[in-house]
Amino acid sequence: MAVRIIGTGSCLAEKEVTNDELAKYVDTSDEWISSRTGIKKRRIAIEETTTSMASEAARRALEMAGRDASEVDLIIVATVTPDYYTPSVACQVQAEIGADNAIAFDVNAACSGFVFALNTAKMYIETGYTKNALVIGAETLSKIMDWNDRGTCVLFGDGAGAAYLEESDMGIINIVQGSIGKKGMVLNCRARKTNNVFVQGEIEPDFLHMDGQEVYKFAVRQCPKCLLEALEKADMTPEDIDYFVLHQANVRIIQSVAKRLKAPIEKFPMTLDYTGNMSAASVPVMLDELVRERGIKRGDKVAVSAFGAGLTYAAAIIEW
Ligand code: COA
Repeated sequence: MAVRIIGTGSCLAEKEVTNDELAKYVDTSDEWISSRTGIKKRRIAIEETTTSMASEAARRALEMAGRDASEVDLIIVATVTPDYYTPSVACQVQAEIGADNAIAFDVNAACSGFVFALNTAKMYIETGYTKNALVIGAETLSKIMDWNDRGTCVLFGDGAGAAYLEESDMGIINIVQGSIGKKGMVLNCRARKTNNVFVQGEIEPDFLHMDGQEVYKFAVRQCPKCLLEALEKADMTPEDIDYFVLHQANVRIIQSVAKRLKAPIEKFPMTLDYTGNMSAASVPVMLDELVRERGIKRGDKVAVSAFGAGLTYAAAIIEW
């Protein structure tokens, strides 16, 4: 028995912002951003919320799968940018789409979040606890950016992607995941400080802080390492893979991983030029593009890998 993705969907924020447009507000240039990251534009939320984009992506995934929201047993949303501390985005998506019979909760594993949630959902289905699951990665990263910090705010974008899973004869072959909490502060965004009648903390939460070079080094080391581990467990080599779906952070990271795996860069589809880094939404949006626009076929082999704050990392091997 395997667990298979039978529907995908995505929803990006409507407003498109090019590097040149951004340079009107931030001390930067298209040349700097493009040459260092490969990002040319991104979407920025104006009316949208994390919940509204997650719900739309979920509706599209269910439509592709030919399933009604009332049939969904489990909703997991991976996000670091919820609209509320509570209720979770997953509970709000449940209400929005009318999935009244689902268990719903969020996971926080930053850019690895979708793959972490995928593994959780896979285990729910494999144990028979649920028959299906809707796994969503959704982010409104623009709201946690320090728009005076040009080293981070130019990198990110807003959007959501979803995958609907059911039991099948083929599907996810294996998933590896890991965390390195002791390095966590290289990419952080503090929540509210302790604040009560005994201690006066700051009420306002902080913005995202990143040591870009440390994150870069972590990504180029850990991403190929966990991909190779997942491939080995699946008794496969990089040559067996048709598509490498990597977290869409930076074209240079993806090129470096391709080189390490000795795999042609053509096998690494990308959205980052027009989406930027959408954290947990990056992988499911890329998967949805493979299905809707790039002609992925049943039986194709896909290697997924994501890495990010926590620090966290994960890889999955899928027989589509
Ligand atoms: N526009 C113009 N100049 C900028 C800039 C911007 N948006 N951001 C930074 N700079 C400047 C810096 O001020 C610095 O100037 P200085 O040399 O005069 O001090 C110079 O560019 C180099 O900055 P640095 O931070 O050393 O750049 P870098 O070569 O390390 O590239 C990143 C920065 C962010 C592109 C790179 O570190 C990276 O890709 N890291 C990984 C980030 C990532 O993917 N995070 C998410 C993972 S999930």
